[in-house]
Amino acid sequence: MQSVKIGVLGLGTVGSGTVNVLSRNLKEITRRAGRDIEVARAADRSFDSPKGCETDGIALTTDAHEIVSDPEIQIVVELIGGTGIARELVLEALSNGKHVVTANKALIAMHGNELFAKAQEKGVTIGFEAAVAGGIPIIKAMREGLAANSIEWLAGIINGTGNFILTEMRDKGRDFADVLAEAQALGYAEADPTFDVEGIDAAHKLTIMASIAFGVPLQFDKAYTEGISEISQEDVKYAAELGYRIKHLGVAKKTDTGIELRVHPTMIPERRLIANVDGVMNAVLVQGDAVGPTLYYGAGAGSDATASAVVADIIDIVRSLNTAPENRVPHLGFQDDALIDTPILPVSEVITSYYLRVHTEDKPGVLADITRIMGEQGISIEAILQKEPEEQGGIVPVIMLTQQVVEKNMDAAIAQIEALASVKNSVMRIRVESLG
Ligand code: HSE
Repeated sequence: MQSVKIGVLGLGTVGSGTVNVLSRNLKEITRRAGRDIEVARAADRSFDSPKGCETDGIALTTDAHEIVSDPEIQIVVELIGGTGIARELVLEALSNGKHVVTANKALIAMHGNELFAKAQEKGVTIGFEAAVAGGIPIIKAMREGLAANSIEWLAGIINGTGNFILTEMRDKGRDFADVLAEAQALGYAEADPTFDVEGIDAAHKLTIMASIAFGVPLQFDKAYTEGISEISQEDVKYAAELGYRIKHLGVAKKTDTGIELRVHPTMIPERRLIANVDGVMNAVLVQGDAVGPTLYYGAGAGSDATASAVVADIIDIVRSLNTAPENRVPHLGFQDDALIDTPILPVSEVITSYYLRVHTEDKPGVLADITRIMGEQGISIEAILQKEPEEQGGIVPVIMLTQQVVEKNMDAAIAQIEALASVKNSVMRIRVESLG
């Protein structure tokens, strides 16, 4: 079957990430989408400096209008940002009957009503998962996974730059301006960083989520925004003394009289999971009447993370081009004829670290025997702890943390340790996963 040709507008941080993810995961993406996806064309302001992705094989242009009017292009991916030329190009692409995928939160929050109407009229789709909370699939979760619920409220840390600033101020006592400069250097901040620190970027994202949660038109102009630039070290410290953390939160809540739509610095009890979302990470807490609270956490910005959501939207559209409506999303996510025979490993081949507890007699040479066995099985000990016996000559617990090892080697080591005359009872093992 012919590949689906896409045109990418903007090869900056997210545009390059999109090309990279599509090329790196090409085979798996084809198995999921059912068709090859080809980045046929890409536009950028200039190609004088190198891009963050390979551009060989992509027809490049500085005139994005060429792409949105190219009859070969089925999906236009708008990653320019802003509401000027981006809006113009998206409207043109839709008018030309092309599907659009965008990461542009300002565009959707401010002009989404107009763009969606145009898409309806033309029978095409606009995918905008990447516009809210970067790589977290929060739009899909709310629009599909939580569709049974009446959503009561949602609250999110939806600006990585602001969260990074507040985290560094709290943990390291750093100054606001100093941390902001670092976030800009890391490529997280908006072109105009006041969008981050004054809550405008978060309000764009909140506006989109509120419309999906409550079924109301997008109304960015009615969102209340208050920034974090007035937060001082003093406030951060007093909040901590009172058992709270200060987070820049976007809150959308349904009340008897209307919908609250607000972004402002907020004190949250430190025991709440969302209060512990630190650095540039994002999280959204959604309260549904049936499911209760659900929490979504992940990278809210960055090249590959945002591309993850852009590419997911592209795959969704390709699936819809391809298959009958009832099979739009294959049952297992991959096309039925694209399942492959990768073996499931027996537990003896699993690789993890371990916590071990051994009860031994308190006499010379026991520890040496244990560590010799571990060494012979190629197991490296990361930490070891021996407690004093409760009584003279009694049994002592020896606690070890190991580095990663294949389970069959650990089985062999444990069997040998248990066979030592000085070892009492069986060895207690707990697998350790750092999940980092
Ligand atoms: N400036 C945004 C942030 C980028 O810091 O979260 C992602 O929208």
